[in-house]
Amino acid sequence: MVQFSLPKNSKINQKGKIYPIPARAKNIRRFQIYRWSADDEKNPRIDTFFIDMDSCGPMVLDALIKIKDEIDSTLTFRRSCREGICGSCAMNIDGTNTLACTRSIHDIKGDVKIYPLPHMYVIRDLVSDLSQFMSNTNQLTLVTSR
Ligand code: FES
Repeated sequence: MVQFSLPKNSKINQKGKIYPIPARAKNIRRFQIYRWSADDEKNPRIDTFFIDMDSCGPMVLDALIKIKDEIDSTLTFRRSCREGICGSCAMNIDGTNTLACTRSIHDIKGDVKIYPLPHMYVIRDLVSDLSQFMSNTNQLTLVTSR
C-alpha cells in the first residue's frame, strides 16, 4: 500500500495564536483557521478566533471579514462577488470544499474549521494557487466548445 505524507515544512506543528473572547459577548462561535506565510519560513499553524455572532453576518465569509477588520488584519483570503458566482472565496470549511460566501455558519456544528483548498499550493493563509486549475479549466473549455 502506498502511503503519502506531507513534506516536513507543510505539517501543522506550530502552536497557533488564540485570540481573546470578546467582552460581554453572549453568542460566541470559535473559528479555527489555517495560517501560513512563506515570509517567516515557519510551518503552518491553526489560529483560534472567537466571534460574537450577534455582531456578525451569517456566512463564513462574513466572519472572515470581521476577523480581518477587527482582530487580525494579516488574515489573507480571496473574495469578490459575495454571491457564489466568481468562486474566488473557495476554501475547505468544516471538511468540505465550498464557497465561504454561501456557507452558513449556523449549519456548522461545533468549531468552524477553515483551511485552504486541498491538493493545491498555498500562497498564503487561505489563498491557494489557482493558476494550474485555471489553465486546466481553460483547456477543458476549449475542448468542450468545439
Ligand atoms: S466571493 Fe464570489 S463566490 Fe464567494
